[in-house]
Amino acid sequence: MTAKAKQSKNALVPVKDLSPEEAASELERLAGLVASADEAYYQNDAPIMSDAEYDSLIRRNLLIEKKFPKLKRADSPSTRVGAAPSAKFEKVRHAAPMLSLDNAFNEEDVADFIGRVERFLKLSESPGFTCEPKIDGASLNLRYVNGELVLGATRGDGQEGENVTANVLTVDNIPKRVKGAPEILEVRGEIYMSHEAFAALNARLEEVGEEQFANPRNAAAGSLRQLDPAITASRPLKFYAWGWGELSEPLGQTQFASMKKLEKLGFEINKLLAVKEGAEALVAYHASVEEKRAGLGYDIDGVVYKVDRLDYQERLGFVARAPRWAIAHKFPAEKAMTILEAIDIQVGRTGALTPVARLKPVTVGGVVVSNATLHNEDEIERKGIHIGDTVIIQRAGDVIPQVLGAVEEKRPKNAKKFKFPDVCPVCGSHAVREEGEAVRRCTGGLICGAQIVERLKHFVSRAAFDIEGLGEKQIEAFFEEGIVKEPADIFTLRARQEKGKIDLYRYDLDENGERKRDKNGKEKPPTNKKSVENLFDAIDARRKISLTRFIYALGIRHIGEVNARLFAQAYGTFDAFRDAARAATDHDSPAYQDMLTIEGIGEIVAQGVIDFFDEKHNRDAVDRLLKEVTPEEAEKVASSSPVAGKTIVFTGSLERFTRDEAKARALSLGAKVSGSVSAKTDLVVAGPGAGSKLKTAQELGVEVISEDDWLKLVGS
Ligand code: IVH
Repeated sequence: MTAKAKQSKNALVPVKDLSPEEAASELERLAGLVASADEAYYQNDAPIMSDAEYDSLIRRNLLIEKKFPKLKRADSPSTRVGAAPSAKFEKVRHAAPMLSLDNAFNEEDVADFIGRVERFLKLSESPGFTCEPKIDGASLNLRYVNGELVLGATRGDGQEGENVTANVLTVDNIPKRVKGAPEILEVRGEIYMSHEAFAALNARLEEVGEEQFANPRNAAAGSLRQLDPAITASRPLKFYAWGWGELSEPLGQTQFASMKKLEKLGFEINKLLAVKEGAEALVAYHASVEEKRAGLGYDIDGVVYKVDRLDYQERLGFVARAPRWAIAHKFPAEKAMTILEAIDIQVGRTGALTPVARLKPVTVGGVVVSNATLHNEDEIERKGIHIGDTVIIQRAGDVIPQVLGAVEEKRPKNAKKFKFPDVCPVCGSHAVREEGEAVRRCTGGLICGAQIVERLKHFVSRAAFDIEGLGEKQIEAFFEEGIVKEPADIFTLRARQEKGKIDLYRYDLDENGERKRDKNGKEKPPTNKKSVENLFDAIDARRKISLTRFIYALGIRHIGEVNARLFAQAYGTFDAFRDAARAATDHDSPAYQDMLTIEGIGEIVAQGVIDFFDEKHNRDAVDRLLKEVTPEEAEKVASSSPVAGKTIVFTGSLERFTRDEAKARALSLGAKVSGSVSAKTDLVVAGPGAGSKLKTAQELGVEVISEDDWLKLVGS
């Protein structure tokens, strides 16, 4: 079997068995994968793979490059660190590059590292190494000139980072002035969020109906890169120093002494910092930190060893992306075994049925886990999981653990194969799986209890009605109390309160459960009167709303913000949109054909709209809503715009505007924005650093213009 054929069976071919051709294509695949993972992690703060998976890609890439040095690519993951900085902040060039670390995964790797250091320095015995936890946060460079903090910068691509000084100033444990510092002092370290602060932040975000962070690292990175420093200030970030950049004079002669000096100057350093000699001692340190890991109160993903003597560090120098004098000894992904007691089916806003594993509670890396995701029907089948099985679960950086598979040898006799239901467990409607879809969905629409609450949450979400003071928690509470059962009910709250049909006021009650009275026997006023009034005002403020928001808020299948805008612009009024959708039920009608001529709308999306309005429940609910709310007429698309009807791709790091701005502008001019270049693309707007998309465009002969040309074309 060729390596390709083997690979298609999902098994990775060992590096030693790769032919040069296979190695080249594997290096290409790895470069692509790492680049997208970097972009997701560094630019979007939304990782697409676990650290362990990422590390294994880097490792495999390195091994292949070692065996086939000539095949090393210009864009090899081993020579680049992270992704280019995002366009939102001013870019700053680092005085000394901010590099990364090589990884060790086991004792042998650590011994190899020490061996390399000894051989390089021609030492006969092991030198001392500082050991400290590897904090799972975001790296930061702090520059002080004459003791004054003048710049805080993220790592970015290692050469250039983002200027986040305004945000750094809000971090409590970062000194803003340093007494007795060298004239130029750059302190490097990690910005992170404690478990406690992370939980509190997510609880707050949930309350206001905003998306939560997957883990403390994303929360820290995301908070540091907030455009509004007030938001950063409201998120308790901390900083640990682990090193330095440019210095006008040395801090000490060893890593340890220099770190102690930083501590003296007012920087927090890790309490577990120690100096050890020899592989055995380093590995013992690793084990002792792993034991403490759960109780530290912040995330770490390994420990870092650094040659202690700075003259040795100097001699050892750097290779590609990392110093020769340091290594990160990672912890293995946290896994555990437990019993799968049941599989529950959750129903989401769009009616998607998701299987959730109910587990016998087990501690994984210090966190008690009793639920894990099983993704979908096919995953359960593919992993051959039965109820009653002993399963292996993994927490890999993210909060929601995954079920990796079952231990078949431990399967009890009474283990049961799971039959995925074909009716919705909430409303009993049919649950169907569309051709080519992994997900089964409930067809119950607005009559399905699960979907109603989720639809209501969607209805008030940020891109929809965005009503201040009406977040997910509030909606849940109103729904449970039976006060809000559909969108229109939100807008009748004030009237119902005034008529005494509902009571949103909270009163102080006496021991008999009666409302408390003042000295004169008068009932005391409600304690939350002001906030209830504010809520009513916020609701009234939304009685007029843009057509795009209105359409988006309905939660129609396949209608996200972009499609909602396309429909709003195509039909102009809600009535025209709904009438077209009703008429389009007949696929031979001109209405259906017209809908498909909207640039960007295909059959699947059109069907989502048709199905929505085909349900009487939905039509009635919308009519009741329209008694309360008026969708405004949409701004007509300038069909004469030079980009109307064109498909545009933005690539590279845009400098004159953000990607969202560019996208919104293009959409408002009637263009379609796509994420990838194909023969259907009309125009590619390429900023600096554009890579594979630009290449594809050139190969396909698609017109490519610069940001400046774009601004000239559309008028800024
Ligand atoms: S030393 C020349 N020490 O891990 C690079 N890095 O994977 C020196 N990190 O970019 C890095 N804790 O953001 C070092 N105790 C520690 C660390 C640490 C976390 C981060 C840092 C670095 C990344 C490398």
